[in-house]
Amino acid sequence: MKFILSVVIATSSLFAAVSAHAIVKRAPPAGPHWDYSGDKTGPDHWGLLDPAYVTCESGMQQSPVDINKESLSRFVHCAKKALTFDYKPVKDAVAHFNGHTVEIDWTPGAKTHNNSIAIGKKQYNLIQFHFHTPSEHRINGRHADAELHLVHRNPVDKSLAVIGVLLQAQARNVPFFHYLTALQKKVHADKHSAVAAAPGTTSAIIEELLKDSVCAGTQPTSEEATKVDYPLPSVDFEPLVRALKGFTPRWEYSGSLTTPPCSENVAWNVMHDPYPIGLDQLRALVDLQGYNARDIEDSRGGSSHK
Ligand SMILES: *[C@@H]1O[C@H](CO)[C@@H](O)[C@H](O)[C@H]1NC(C)=O
Ligand SMILES: [Zn+2]
Repeated sequence: MKFILSVVIATSSLFAAVSAHAIVKRAPPAGPHWDYSGDKTGPDHWGLLDPAYVTCESGMQQSPVDINKESLSRFVHCAKKALTFDYKPVKDAVAHFNGHTVEIDWTPGAKTHNNSIAIGKKQYNLIQFHFHTPSEHRINGRHADAELHLVHRNPVDKSLAVIGVLLQAQARNVPFFHYLTALQKKVHADKHSAVAAAPGTTSAIIEELLKDSVCAGTQPTSEEATKVDYPLPSVDFEPLVRALKGFTPRWEYSGSLTTPPCSENVAWNVMHDPYPIGLDQLRALVDLQGYNARDIEDSRGGSSHK
């Protein structure tokens, strides 16, 4: 197995004497290729691509779902259990496009604080967060512009709890998402240098093409984009958590991963309140990841969409 090693050099903003080096080991995606295109590798075929993905086809508690009167009367609940959280700014994270989504992750150190949530008595550590455009969960049939997934894992039984935040576009950019446009710029800058280095091309033509592709929102190829890391010395969740009232008003249900292998027993927590995302930040997401929302799964007794 081949690992891509990417070295992240974090600049210490407050104490100039300290310079931290974190090494992020990134495994190539496991399992066969899957995507959102709807042909032989799209969502309707995920369950057939690999025996490990069979739950995508046969699972009875699949996500995402539409939150409406009907699902609320059957399996989605207004949260009753307290969700407590212990979040501090995450150090030395990396924003990157992994071929499916823009993801922010980091390597937990033995001595670094693990951000965590507790649902009832069960504790889960925050391991990464990522984005879907448009939203995967819907409310009364309607998508939000995007959805943020904060993925947490129980260190003992490895079960997952995900906080889903619906994102609504606004004109002004939102500080919490500053890395999205920065990553987009970096991806296009790398693409530029890679293409310009090819024989028989001039940088002026390439520049025009790039301008066009940026304007047209053309997706960079996954292979190019996945090589680009945007280092984040610190991610502070405080503004997000404050706006979401400490993750309090929310819907809960037991569901699944929305990507292969579609594993179930995921404790979903979808926030009532949307959070804003700047239009340029949303455009950066779409530019990087395109359409990456799984369809509503209505296999819980409704008619199947398959
Ligand atoms: C954070 O979580 C990881 C993974 O479960 C663990 O290896 C590490 O020791 C934890 N760190 C602390 C400070 O508890
Ligand atoms: Zn997700």
